[in-house]
Amino acid sequence: MPAPMGDEMRLWQVRNPGPLSQTLTLTTAPSPSRDVEKGKVLVEIAVVGLNPADYKLAEAGFVARLQLPFPKTLGTDFSGRAIAVGSDITDIKPGDNVFGRMFPFNSAGSLSEYVIASYDDVAVISETVTLEQAAGAPTVAQTAYQTLAPVVKAGDKVFINGGSGGAGTFCIQIAKALGCHVTVSCSTTKVALCQELGVDEVMDYKKTDILAALQSGGNKYAVAIDNVGNLNLFGSADKFLLPGGLFRLVGAPSSLSTAWNLGYNLLSSKYLPAFLNGNKNTFNAYVTKNSHEDLAQVATLMAEGKVRTVVDSVFPFSEVLKACQRLGTGSSTGKVSVHRCPFTAFTAFTAFTVFTVFTAFTAFTAFTAFTAFTAFTAFTAFTVFTAFTVFTAFTVFTAFTVFTVFTAQQF
Ligand SMILES: NC(=O)c1ccc[n+]([C@@H]2O[C@H](COP(=O)([O-])OP(=O)(O)OC[C@H]3O[C@@H](n4cnc5c(N)ncnc54)[C@H](OP(=O)(O)O)[C@@H]3O)[C@@H](O)[C@H]2O)c1
Repeated sequence: MPAPMGDEMRLWQVRNPGPLSQTLTLTTAPSPSRDVEKGKVLVEIAVVGLNPADYKLAEAGFVARLQLPFPKTLGTDFSGRAIAVGSDITDIKPGDNVFGRMFPFNSAGSLSEYVIASYDDVAVISETVTLEQAAGAPTVAQTAYQTLAPVVKAGDKVFINGGSGGAGTFCIQIAKALGCHVTVSCSTTKVALCQELGVDEVMDYKKTDILAALQSGGNKYAVAIDNVGNLNLFGSADKFLLPGGLFRLVGAPSSLSTAWNLGYNLLSSKYLPAFLNGNKNTFNAYVTKNSHEDLAQVATLMAEGKVRTVVDSVFPFSEVLKACQRLGTGSSTGKVSVHRCPFTAFTAFTAFTVFTVFTAFTAFTAFTAFTAFTAFTAFTAFTVFTAFTVFTAFTVFTAFTVFTVFTAQQF
């Protein structure tokens, strides 16, 4: 049951580009109207899954000014409950659990109590999937789905650079769900997680030179997905991709060398002939698109238990800055999320449930102990009393008999 909507809602905004520690503020704004337009869904937010772009874009100085409207409400991914739905939408109903992704370059963001999402931004998620699981998926699961599903077939070998973050953990699971053979790179402490998610081969980048290992392994991968962008792997793709293979750059540091490599790789993939060091493979810098159909596919995979969100850490709504700082370390294992629920009905419900279960348990234990104790006491008393009575009766009877016999003999 959603909490009643007040006239105002809380939201986390940045008024100007710059470090979040100086710009991020918790503020209020009028709550959206329940009369939503066609093609829109009003959602009460429960959990927000964070993505590196949430803080990177807002901190990007003058570049941020070119890309984002300010003030900007942070956050893209969310899960929650549909409150009102445009009259033309038939597959989402008020009361449904939903998950989705706000368009990152709009002023509205998901670190807010309510959002109005477009139909393409949102889909229903099964109640068997927790809202925390759902909130971690929209950007990274759509990225993994969109970069892999249209281009791989069962049996293809796929290489994923960076398997342990939000994007990597979904790439592994979706590639496996599509029947691929998956090799990933990750650091030593995350090898076990990647194996648990189903990878076939792991390269530990702390112990192995990834570029050398790829070059010496031969041309075997149909697709490579790069979530890290640290090594300009595409420059050597002719040595590890199958002829005509596809290299997709998903993530990379914001730097001049990244920009240079990006430009050069596009040029060498599309226009440079082999004798001018042109690359025979296709290079693609991928940008995730919001798609209702793709979200619905992800929802199905999650409901079927084929993919799940690996949760790195969870923060309350009051600690968004700490959550962004955790993600900003660049070494999270899966997703960092922010719960809005602890401040609303969810807290009350959880507290009530814990209290009820605890009280019921205590009462039951006390009652059982008391009953057992009473039963034990009664049983003991009964046994002692019976034994005593029997013993006394027997003694009296024996004494009486002996006395009678003895007395009879006397006469
Ligand atoms: N193009 C798009 O539309 C799109 C969509 C989603 C994400 N992205 C981008 O993709 C990147 C990854 O996103 P994310 O959400 O997965 O980030 P994340 O959750 O912060 O994950 C970062 C992961 O990268 C691993 N890592 C760091 N250096 C590595 C290396 N040298 N080799 C292998 N793994 C390494 C880290 O593990 P260790 O600590 O063990 O190193 C960590 O698990 C970001 O740049 C993000 O902005 C782009």
